[in-house]
Amino acid sequence: MQKEFWNNRYGAKDYAYGKTANDFLKKQTFFTGSRVLCLAEGEGRNAVYLAEQGHKVTMIDYSPEGIKKAQQLAREKGVEINALCLDLSSYQIESNAWDAIVIIFGHFPPEIREHLHPQIFNALKSGGQLVLEAYSKEQLQYKTGGPENLNMLYAEAELSSDFKDFSSLSINTLTREVIEGQYHTGIASVIQVKGNK
Ligand SMILES: C[S@@+](CC[C@H](N)C(=O)[O-])C[C@H]1O[C@@H](n2cnc3c(N)ncnc32)[C@H](O)[C@@H]1O
Repeated sequence: MQKEFWNNRYGAKDYAYGKTANDFLKKQTFFTGSRVLCLAEGEGRNAVYLAEQGHKVTMIDYSPEGIKKAQQLAREKGVEINALCLDLSSYQIESNAWDAIVIIFGHFPPEIREHLHPQIFNALKSGGQLVLEAYSKEQLQYKTGGPENLNMLYAEAELSSDFKDFSSLSINTLTREVIEGQYHTGIASVIQVKGNK
């Protein structure tokens, strides 16, 4: 899936993953006014939700169409977000800067995960939280969303190794109903990660 793919998808009038935030993210709590970074945030549904909760949110995505829709959604909801159009394959995350880093359905080839994941621990302030949900490798059999490419799906062992420095880390693979927009359409295998620095 390349940038053009995402631009085409986000060029439609509707929001591909809806305007409501991800179910797993909605269960998390952050202290008011947290500085939150959302990576691969698409049309901004999670970033806007977090801004509505009173957080200072920066989101990154490489699709200009996604960024436009995110800014539009923020205006619609009367909140401010900092939406940056950048390619994560070369992005350097600011160190000790974030109270939370959120990655929801951020599916990349392994070389991008290898570039990003080692930066996340350093990028968080002490006590900062990582929240990640994405489709697991088992998702291939469900065909209810996500890339149909094993390399872009997640595995617990890889995530435990990538985030081994966290003082508390929970990683769970589970089957749940994901109804989040027209491309996430039913029973799915997901991995949910929560880490505290
Ligand atoms: C399935 S969408 C998830 C969007 C959003 N997090 C959500 O849950 O609604 C995956 C997103 O990853 C973005 N993405 C993929 N590769 C990227 C890269 N190298 N740099 C920045 N964004 C990327 C795509 O543009 C797309 O918006």
